[in-house]
Amino acid sequence: MKIVVIQGPNLNMLGVREQQIYGPMKLEQIHAQMKDFAAQNKIEIEFFQSNLEGELVDRIQECFGDAQGIIINPAAYTHTSIAIRDAISAVGIPTIEVHISNIHRREEFRKTNMIAPVCSSSIVGFGPFGYHLAMVGMTQIMTEIKAAQEAQQKAAQTAE
Ligand code: DQA
Repeated sequence: MKIVVIQGPNLNMLGVREQQIYGPMKLEQIHAQMKDFAAQNKIEIEFFQSNLEGELVDRIQECFGDAQGIIINPAAYTHTSIAIRDAISAVGIPTIEVHISNIHRREEFRKTNMIAPVCSSSIVGFGPFGYHLAMVGMTQIMTEIKAAQEAQQKAAQTAE
């Protein structure tokens, strides 16, 4: 199983930007923890960060036929990007959205979320630990998909 972790604009500034909201942890540290979890669970993992909407769309499209899961923090594009939403819909890969802060208890404009309706689930407000929760959640989604596929195969074999 391969998971691609996609990080939106300004997340490269974690550990520097608004520490009272996002905490002191750097993106590289978050990714190192995810990498450890992936190695322990025999999951292939790749990371991508961009400040550009089109590059995020391109990376989501590249997941088609290549990755089985996407973990994405679209950052500010969460609130504006129909293009990122459409890309997630287009590839049809189970996607978990992560937000470090609780976007529901911040400014009004952060309550608009273009991305959540096309995701399997959303994790908000747990700080950087949310990325670990997303990894656990994704392994659960994969286990359920595998079990459903096996049940389908079994049913097809008995019908033969
Ligand atoms: C964020 C929340 C967004 O509203 C904001 O623009 C970000 C980070 C979060 O992880 O809490 O850049 O996605």
